[in-house]
Amino acid sequence: MGGLRRLEYRGYDSGGVALVGDGTLISAKKAGKLLNLDAELAERPLPVAHTGIGHTRWATHGAPNDVNAHPHLDETGRIAVVHNGIIENFAVLRAELEATGHELVSETDTETVAHLLHDELERTADLSDAVRAVCRRLEGAFTLVICDADHPDVVVGARRNSPLVVGRGDGENFLGSDVAAFIEFTRDAVELGQDQVVTITPDDIVVTDFFGAPAATKEYHVDWDVSAAEKGGYDWFMLKEIAEQPQAVADTLLGRHSQGGQLQLDEMRLSDGELRDVDRIVIIACGTASYAGLVAKYAIEHWTRIPCEVELASEFRYRDPILDKSTLVVAISQSGETMDTLMAIRYARQQKARVLSICNTNGSTIPRESDAVIYTHAGPEIAVASTKGFLSQIVACYLLALYLAQVKGTKYGDEIASIIAEIDKTPAGIQRMLDEGDQVRKLATELAGSRSILFLGRHVGFPVALEGALKLKELAYIHAEGFAAGELKHGPIALVERGLPVFVVVPPKGRDQLQEKTVSSIQEIRARGALTIVLAEDGDEDVVPYADHLIRLPKVPTILQPLVATVPLQIFAAEFANQLGNDVDQPRNLAKSVTVE
Ligand code: M6R
Repeated sequence: MGGLRRLEYRGYDSGGVALVGDGTLISAKKAGKLLNLDAELAERPLPVAHTGIGHTRWATHGAPNDVNAHPHLDETGRIAVVHNGIIENFAVLRAELEATGHELVSETDTETVAHLLHDELERTADLSDAVRAVCRRLEGAFTLVICDADHPDVVVGARRNSPLVVGRGDGENFLGSDVAAFIEFTRDAVELGQDQVVTITPDDIVVTDFFGAPAATKEYHVDWDVSAAEKGGYDWFMLKEIAEQPQAVADTLLGRHSQGGQLQLDEMRLSDGELRDVDRIVIIACGTASYAGLVAKYAIEHWTRIPCEVELASEFRYRDPILDKSTLVVAISQSGETMDTLMAIRYARQQKARVLSICNTNGSTIPRESDAVIYTHAGPEIAVASTKGFLSQIVACYLLALYLAQVKGTKYGDEIASIIAEIDKTPAGIQRMLDEGDQVRKLATELAGSRSILFLGRHVGFPVALEGALKLKELAYIHAEGFAAGELKHGPIALVERGLPVFVVVPPKGRDQLQEKTVSSIQEIRARGALTIVLAEDGDEDVVPYADHLIRLPKVPTILQPLVATVPLQIFAAEFANQLGNDVDQPRNLAKSVTVE
């Protein structure tokens, strides 16, 4: 159950287990969070066994109830299957099974696999062969993990488009959607490729393709341990991950630059010549990662003068985008498994564009399918709401932008060195925002009855506003929206009414008049009764008369401001949700890695 609990962040509509021992298979499953399964197992304990599978579900086919929970069994109850992904041809397979007399009890696509396996195992006694034969019939995305009462020491897994990793132990081996499943027992992992079947026994790991030919695999050592996947004294993973941000940012920077500012990106598998040829950058990502991409656009265009667009991965390939080999597609993903982003990468590579990914998860699919990768090294992010993932993605984007500036010669070495020196100072600035978090927590307690909150920003403050609103939406389930402050007067200002809380991220003073224009926006909304919560740098006295609440930010260059300005918005959202009694780590309807399109 420990491994399952550490995977619960991936989906929490239901949980289930199946164990094999003494020639029989026993299973238990329950809708809702794992606590419900715990209660069921306390009432009806399962026997001790050494072979078993488990699942936490994010529902796609069929309501999140007990019947649709995984594992799914064949009619004889000897085979158990758990599945992530969507089997696209399941309706045809189901009709075929029903026509031959099978009775399916759930509404899921997964159950078809258990029945297909039952039929295959009448043709072959070899479970792995049967799994390969069934996989050849399936369309769509799937990770399958299977056990069978007649093969008591064997677990078979298969993957296409959905994640599955192997843990190599000593006299024991493991499968998991990510390494958190088995990190308590081993940090030695094996990456599986596309369309592969893996058979584990206590002493062996055998990987083949769907036709039984031996397949190459890559082994790696996980650079964090089980303590990183525990709450470590915090009430919520999200609070721990917010607090880890100074370290996460420092770790993203670690070893990437020399004293003189010369950048080294070890995982950059594109040559300087190839990078010099890049004449356009397209960033693709989803959710919070797409907001990191919006920040990156400002940095990339400002420092490299390469035109840069940011596009939601789920929209990208459907608009016939113009790409060629001079286009660098940058895919940002904390999990490395987001299906929309993965599909956009595959499309981009088909169009001959080069793909560089920015990713936090070693061994995941997106970096494996990219031409180059910059790992963020932020450590495991368990809370569904991304926090340290976001800040470390932004830092990795800065590093990429500066690396391109170095290669293309659009910035002198000493200019790059001085920007890097400023980035190096940001962990201290982030720490200060954490230390001053009580002010924000108090504010969240006061505003916890609000049903709508707006967030405004300009320039890189705009993606910060979007991120502040997304955090609140996903955790507090209230109306929250981020706007570009200059856009307010073109419509959204109509939303402003007496007492409406509005956060405003004020840019540092500069030659561009952005600070002054943002102060005007604050005046405009305050004149219409808004309750203004102003985030402004130390020493900015212009905002004081118009701020009902003033959150001070350390002085940093404009482009780096998201690293400090986002932190109070994260703390606010977490505390707001806490005040409402919501589950901060596992908000309703969501899953951490969205591995379906
Ligand atoms: O793992 P990814 O970075 O690819 O995930 C992308 C989004 O699903 C993710 O950022 C999502 O928006 C978060 N729940 C936001 O907190």
